[in-house]
Amino acid sequence: MTLNKKNSINNILEESRIFPPSKEFSKNALIKDFKELIKLKEAAKKDSNKFWDDYAKSEIDWFEPYQTVLDDKNAPFFKWFPEGKLNISYNCIDRHIKNGLSDKTALIWQGEPGDDKTFTYSELLEEVCKTANGLKSIGVKKGDLVCIYMPMIPEAMFAMLACARIGAQHSVVFGGFSSESLKERLIDGNAKFVITADGGYRKDKEIELKNAVDLALEAGANEIVEKVIVVQRIKKEIYMDSSRDLWWHELLQNQDKWCEPEIMNSEDRLFVLYTSGSTGKPKGVVHTTAGYNLWSHLTFKWVFDIKKDDIYWCTADVGWITGHSYIVYGPLSNGATTLMYEGVPRASNLGAFWEVIQKYKVTIFYTAPTAIRSFMKSGREIPDKYDLSSLRLLGTVGEPINPEAWIWYKNVIGKDKCPIVDTWWQTETGGIMVSPLPGAVNAKPGSATFSLPGIEVSIVNKDGEEVNSNEGGYLIVKKPWPGMMRTIHGDPDRFKKSYWEFFPMKDKKYVYFAGDGARIDSDGYLWIMGRVDDVISVSGHRLGTMEIESALVSHESVAEAAVVGRKDSIKGESIVAFVSLEKNFQKSLNLINELKQHVVNEIGIIAKPEKIIISDALPKTRSGKIMRRILRSLASGQKISGDISTLEDSSVLEKLKEDS
Ligand code: WT7
Repeated sequence: MTLNKKNSINNILEESRIFPPSKEFSKNALIKDFKELIKLKEAAKKDSNKFWDDYAKSEIDWFEPYQTVLDDKNAPFFKWFPEGKLNISYNCIDRHIKNGLSDKTALIWQGEPGDDKTFTYSELLEEVCKTANGLKSIGVKKGDLVCIYMPMIPEAMFAMLACARIGAQHSVVFGGFSSESLKERLIDGNAKFVITADGGYRKDKEIELKNAVDLALEAGANEIVEKVIVVQRIKKEIYMDSSRDLWWHELLQNQDKWCEPEIMNSEDRLFVLYTSGSTGKPKGVVHTTAGYNLWSHLTFKWVFDIKKDDIYWCTADVGWITGHSYIVYGPLSNGATTLMYEGVPRASNLGAFWEVIQKYKVTIFYTAPTAIRSFMKSGREIPDKYDLSSLRLLGTVGEPINPEAWIWYKNVIGKDKCPIVDTWWQTETGGIMVSPLPGAVNAKPGSATFSLPGIEVSIVNKDGEEVNSNEGGYLIVKKPWPGMMRTIHGDPDRFKKSYWEFFPMKDKKYVYFAGDGARIDSDGYLWIMGRVDDVISVSGHRLGTMEIESALVSHESVAEAAVVGRKDSIKGESIVAFVSLEKNFQKSLNLINELKQHVVNEIGIIAKPEKIIISDALPKTRSGKIMRRILRSLASGQKISGDISTLEDSSVLEKLKEDS
């Protein structure tokens, strides 16, 4: 079948080609064929306690054993392995050293300006211990929350693992977020400590991270934050407050190279990570120690089919869950070699990724569909200049991949020999939930295929009833799993209601609602259809439309704002904002640019609207609700269809069309 140009995101449902892994790949894979996968899935279904118990015992090292696998007494606040004691930094480092991997490379780091470093497992242990001791010396205690606002440098990984080692929770905030967003997260999490850098490199610019921390503190977070540790990265003159700010290198200079790992309970918090939802306020997703350790470990092992000599590279930022689970915890818990890259492809170096693959002979490569689509656009001549023959497995994450991009990835990057794992999951799920196991599943481009063993998914209608195959509906997970989020920091009620009580509960059974629409085809393959709530995905970055609207209305000129996503052939979606102005303000190009910048200042560069339409007519129902459906059609230049009889004033449509 030839590729149909129209076979893009809209039409993924029509895709029917099947791509089996090569015999060679399957033969060497951990899970070698579909039968084996089904056997595992059935074993998990039959006796899930035994299934999880076996893996928890064989894959995780415990300081003290647990007696209970799953405690569901206080559902949906499930507890996993509650009596167990462990430390995830021990599982990510020490145990490998005990098993003879001291000199194996744990981390390969490639810096943006061309500098690089590698760390063996024993060197990693030293760095993490020194960092842990440094944190202790300034008063960080078990349970404290440490915010990490850093570029993609090794110290970000050391900081995360050092927190875990001493039992502090980390809250990593992506370095692209603005000082306002940082402030909000510092205050919500009650962060007493911040680890940052003098700056970072992003594309061909320098970003001023420490300056953003200063602004966040100035704006109110100074009431909470006691100390700020600063890594010297870009060696820029920066302001240092002598009573509060410390240089990382000075703090660590004389620290001991050994730090005893804290004995943690299974359900002690490991980290909080903020993500967008359908309200204006980001939610602090809470993950705990044992369940997260097991799930990030096991999913990494299954999905990436890791072998001892693999050089594995995930291009995400540690500020996202993908970086947590698949740059840091999953790979290290498996004793793998993980690569961290400070840069991103940019106009001045479109071959940046391929250069890294060639230089380090990367074997497993995990990236986002948006990146693949932009590579496609700039042509295969660029990757074709590099030696990519080391690759044996490719992955994608974060958004649906259109079949055209999937095929390009397979042919041009994977030279037709690498299976592709399209992995569906979320910040909340802790690890991958739906993905082909590369040696066992025949892939269909655009489908994330099947749920992993132990994960039972289903598609339901709004009453919670299962729909027929090929019918679209809401994607749910029918049972708790070890890596699931435990709560929303400070808002357990919202956790319960929005994730576990979304549908009428049948037989008092809790099911998890992910927020995505999906369909299962007649062969049992799962097709994700996108968010069904007010969350949009721009270049795979998750943003709440309400968050952007709140940012807009916080500007003095804005009376009302409505934000919608518009389909974008590279970014998946782009942001279009409809804005009405306060009385004394006039529409102008200057104001539009000022509003765009205002959103950047309030949230961060990832939330910059592509287009702002100023109009004093926003379509509303008689009860005053903005009709987003109409705005979505307008934003994407489509005809307004469907019922518009609830519109309060139909003349706004003509007016809006003129203004758009
Ligand atoms: C949302 C979660 C998973 C880590 C990165 C994003 C979308 C994620 C896929 C995929 C289609 C996907 C969903 C999900 N999503 N992976 N393979 N195919 N959609 O984590 O920021 O928590 O976002 O990303 O809509 O709900 P996140």
